[in-house]
Amino acid sequence: MENESNAKDGLQIMNKALRQAIIAGNWKMNNTPAQAASLINEMKPLVADADCGVVLCVPFVDIPAALEAAKGSNIKIGAQNCHFEASGAFTGEISAPMLKDMGVEYVIVGHSERRTYFGDTDITVNKRARAALENGLTAIICVGETLEQREQGITDELVALQTKIALQGVTADQMKKVIIAYEPVWAIGTGRTATAEQANEVCYVIRETISELYGCKTGNAVTIQYGGSMNAKNADELVAQPDVDGGLIGGASLKAEDFSVIVKAASK
Ligand code: 13P
Repeated sequence: MENESNAKDGLQIMNKALRQAIIAGNWKMNNTPAQAASLINEMKPLVADADCGVVLCVPFVDIPAALEAAKGSNIKIGAQNCHFEASGAFTGEISAPMLKDMGVEYVIVGHSERRTYFGDTDITVNKRARAALENGLTAIICVGETLEQREQGITDELVALQTKIALQGVTADQMKKVIIAYEPVWAIGTGRTATAEQANEVCYVIRETISELYGCKTGNAVTIQYGGSMNAKNADELVAQPDVDGGLIGGASLKAEDFSVIVKAASK
């Protein structure tokens, strides 16, 4: 118990400004390579003054065009998934070394759409995250509860467990390249955003979980994003929360103007 309260005190005294807020767009299955280049060219001047990290996670085939368009700007390019093996008989999959070789710096793992439609489990999410980290990529690990789980009152336990399993075997040093995205499944693509308080509460639970595993210093330093119907209108309030360090943005990352407003909100 004493450790727990110490952990909380340690967390509370830390200044949010010491962590890097990151706004990452998740384009999902949208944009051809030509459309990717044109959207990034439109975004570049709008986000050039950002005082936060700016990342776009694009479909695999868009990566070369996206890297080329983003060259010399503050926009970093990420992928939306990676396999856990380096190579082999895994038809349709892309490995972490392949992404690294292309110049990709970030990769989303464990997005709820991968968990729901493509059979990703807490165990495979852990394997993918480790593969990403072993290859020097920054892993954006997604966790979050369904509406049913929220109504059952198990959100905190569930998200803490997802976080713990995702991080099994991840070293303290590798944690410097881990971002956790709290994405309540019921808020994704539904237009139904978590309230700022709900988002902050669960991001805090994640921070506490990481502090238990790696110590307060790591818990305080880790970037924890909120994702789920974040848009140009509600971003201000969400990213201002003490434990919310930016966001993982779906729909609103497909529009240069909306995305740039969110980036500005996280730069304040
Ligand atoms: P929306 O912003 O479209 O709700 O998507 C969120 C998301 O899934 C980001 O990964």
